[in-house]
Amino acid sequence: DSQWKLADHPKLPKGKKIAVVVLDGWGEANPDQYNCIHVAETPTMDSLKKGAPEKWTLVKAHGTAVGLPTDDDMGNSEVGHNALGAGRIYAQGAKLVDLALASGKIYEEEGFNYIKESFDQGTLHLIGLLSDGGVHSRLDQVQLLLKGASEHGAKRIRVHILTDGRDVLDGSSVGFVETLENDLAELRAKGVDAHIASGGGRMYVTMDRYENDWDVVKRGWDAQVLGEAPHKFQNAVEAVKKLRELPNMNDQYLPPFVIVDESGNPVGPILDGDAVVTFNFRADRMVMIAKALEYEDFDKFDRVRVPKIRYAGMLQYDGELKLPSRYLVSPPLIERTSGEYLVKNGVRTFACSETVKFGHVTFFWNGNRSGYFDASKEEYVEIPSDVGITFNVQPKMKAVEIAEKARDAILSGKFDQVRVNLPNGDMVGHTGDIEATVVACKAADEAVKIILDAVEQVGGIYVVTADHGNAEDMVKRNKSGQPAKDKNGNIQILTSHTLQPVPVAIGGPGLLPGVKFRTDLQTPGLANVAATVMNLHGFVAPSDYEPTLIEVVDN
Ligand code: 3PG
Ligand code: CO
Repeated sequence: DSQWKLADHPKLPKGKKIAVVVLDGWGEANPDQYNCIHVAETPTMDSLKKGAPEKWTLVKAHGTAVGLPTDDDMGNSEVGHNALGAGRIYAQGAKLVDLALASGKIYEEEGFNYIKESFDQGTLHLIGLLSDGGVHSRLDQVQLLLKGASEHGAKRIRVHILTDGRDVLDGSSVGFVETLENDLAELRAKGVDAHIASGGGRMYVTMDRYENDWDVVKRGWDAQVLGEAPHKFQNAVEAVKKLRELPNMNDQYLPPFVIVDESGNPVGPILDGDAVVTFNFRADRMVMIAKALEYEDFDKFDRVRVPKIRYAGMLQYDGELKLPSRYLVSPPLIERTSGEYLVKNGVRTFACSETVKFGHVTFFWNGNRSGYFDASKEEYVEIPSDVGITFNVQPKMKAVEIAEKARDAILSGKFDQVRVNLPNGDMVGHTGDIEATVVACKAADEAVKIILDAVEQVGGIYVVTADHGNAEDMVKRNKSGQPAKDKNGNIQILTSHTLQPVPVAIGGPGLLPGVKFRTDLQTPGLANVAATVMNLHGFVAPSDYEPTLIEVVDN
């Protein structure tokens, strides 16, 4: 197909075996005790950094460089892998929803008009992550949507909240629920019957991803749809405060609860004739609940009662599955990704991670599209993640297994590109457990070594990079960069991602000696990596891709 044909690179040969390694949550920051990458023994990554200065560089992985609204937005895996794979910067969900709300266009589109048909007889339910993290959702968008929906006819609204503590500080959930309650009280003063109906912690209720554990989605279904949960409260602020007092509890893992009236009846189960909006813009952790809400045939758990609803996502979460079929804001149309180009130019591709990050190097990498471009040239391998634990308990995760799969794929000679995501720095970093995160970083480094050794054996090339920062800075900082303390004088542990840049390292016996990083790019970011990888495969990237990071100087 001629439209897919990539031009030959004038200097770089084809046929090299290339390993692309994405260290999840691995940024570059000052070395101190909260920099787990610095504290950990990481001889492999250290050697890349200290080896050849022209083969190691830093790129931006947050803010506008990855299509987020502002440079105060930390990076995340969705936008990071989208940029790495697509080679261009797209206005991402967060920004698209901002624009649609600011212009009011959201209320004119098909998705809103569809759910609006339920407003006369039914209740509008909003389900999603309640925080200002800006990774999956944003509280200010929910506030605007509540206001706008009520102004456009919603008379009865129920909000089903998921508490965060992962993209924001643990404990911040209480304040977000108070803010929401104030807004709902204002709506009630205007005659709208608006209440919080249920809740739970994001990692325990609803927001699983990549089918790691359907029980998580079931817990949410039971509370949100059926109005059933082990904990019942009359007030959501009280619910969150009380549940946080359970042993070893935090915002991420709050058990499911429902809000009940004085007679003990749930105030907002989802019923026939209701409308439902999942208000997260980010895809990965909404796909499973979207399937449960939308699919007639569904066998992942017993839904018990399947209400006839009008359902819309904030965005469409999966472009290949067209899921959900109705949505309030059109997602970024990420097309002509590097993965698709390379496969169509004969590059046989292998991708692997463990379940919790599997979709990152496949679905996100390919522009939020599930499945293969050409099954005869691609193999995607998922290593099952441990289920039902927090990863500080198993900080090594499946790093060795992923690396060994990559090694075998490289040595098999069957693939031209072998791509992996190593989750440790991120998944363990999100637990806020500093000691465990140090172990995690060491494990990821050892996995990199296994892959680089295989690259060495086949005379290949490696590209080692990351999608955003996390493990390199585990403490909240004040304006002068010092660890910030809370009102009791305690250091505030940072479970979230960061604004830090990430490394890109290239090398291996297959890399021509004249290849080095350019120094003329003003502010390269993750989107510049795709053209770089295409070059190393012997191709010139399409002209609308962000420029390559490398140049070839004649020796
Ligand atoms: C999550 O979904 O786990 C966090 O909100 C973001 O982490 P990720 O962007 O690294 O997946
Ligand atoms: Co993360």
